Amino acid sequence: MARFPKPLEGSWTEHYPELGTGPVSYEDSISPEFYELEREAVFKRAWLNVGRVERLPRNGSYFTKELAVADTSIVVVRDMQGHVRAFHNICRHRGNKLVWNDFPREDTSGSCRQFVCKYHGWKYDLDGTCSFVQQESEFFDLDKADHGLVPVHCDVWSGFIFVNLDATPHQSLTEFLGPMVTAIDGYPFHQITERYAFRAIVPSNWKVFLDVLQEQYHAPVVHRNQRPKAFEAPMQVWGFEAPHYQLDGPHRMLTTPGIRPWELPADQIKPSEKLLRSGLFGAWDAPELGAVPAGINPGGCDPVGISLFEIWPNLGIQFWERGWYHTYHHWPTSHNTHLFECNLYYVPAKNARERVAHEMAAVTFKEFALQDDNLIAAAQMMLESRVVTSFPLGDQEILCRHLHKVAADWVNDYQRQRAGV
Ligand code: FES
Ligand SMILES: [Fe+2]
Repeated sequence: MARFPKPLEGSWTEHYPELGTGPVSYEDSISPEFYELEREAVFKRAWLNVGRVERLPRNGSYFTKELAVADTSIVVVRDMQGHVRAFHNICRHRGNKLVWNDFPREDTSGSCRQFVCKYHGWKYDLDGTCSFVQQESEFFDLDKADHGLVPVHCDVWSGFIFVNLDATPHQSLTEFLGPMVTAIDGYPFHQITERYAFRAIVPSNWKVFLDVLQEQYHAPVVHRNQRPKAFEAPMQVWGFEAPHYQLDGPHRMLTTPGIRPWELPADQIKPSEKLLRSGLFGAWDAPELGAVPAGINPGGCDPVGISLFEIWPNLGIQFWERGWYHTYHHWPTSHNTHLFECNLYYVPAKNARERVAHEMAAVTFKEFALQDDNLIAAAQMMLESRVVTSFPLGDQEILCRHLHKVAADWVNDYQRQRAGV
């Protein structure tokens, strides 16, 4: 028997009075000036997830991450003692980008015992120490000890590697994540390591795209043709497409009700899905993961479909009932463009049938994401016309309302600090 706790008294939005219920401006998504402030106030001060520990499988493994929004590139490495560290990707001699492969603007990854600059051959140990200067005696009072790589604050939570570009972050990573997100601790991420990745340059502000992913109000319209008729009743609980919403500090989450595609009438399921026993919700035959933390379903919805955690500013982690998860990253490249990255994670397939089921889920998921992506370019275009400047958001759009409020709060806070108030 399905169980969905009734919404809190009043509406979801009114339960968080600081959000207000009035119309919302999207000036923060079309203004180049606001974007410049956001780069300083948000992306150079918040903890940013740059990848997972599986990308650093052994001592000496490294990957680089272009952070155009923060005007830098970083290199993340597991040093010879096994510690995960991050450095600005710049050589201390004359500023060359230290780690890159064929194209200087593209990310790379690999494994090494030390970093060697391609320009004049200076070398750095993986803990950042400068270990070798070519023709050192020709330099003037040069002390290698003063010329190590510039470190970036780096910490790991549940296998997610975070960096913080602030000289002195005002919160530890755990404090920053807060109780709602850290309640996910214990989810078996380490068992779910088969990865499918795709990325797209999206012609919209990063928040405009994030908005379409953090509300389900659009789903019956945008994804109408992908949703079997039988989805309609169970997807509507208490009048909402998603029956639980929660906010904690700058972070937010929602849960949708579960759908059991294998229980649908035969004429409402695609032959390919039936054949491969897989589709948008994942492989129908879920892996055995044991008990998962209650924190991934704080609303206690049963059956649960997805739980999406949007971790400020630009990381989404979405858990699926069928024992897999995916992440979203939104990396701004200008006020109206961004790089969208999506990584899907499954328990590694043990046979061809499981592998094909994963592929089926991945391509179906991508189809949904592209439907959102295509739509959003149109929204950005007309927001930029400024013909309309304030927009009514419904109760199901509470997470959108929250995102724009948090962006404004961080920018205001930064401006106040800069003004010395
Ligand atoms: S710039 Fe790196 S060795 Fe000269
Ligand atoms: Fe969507």
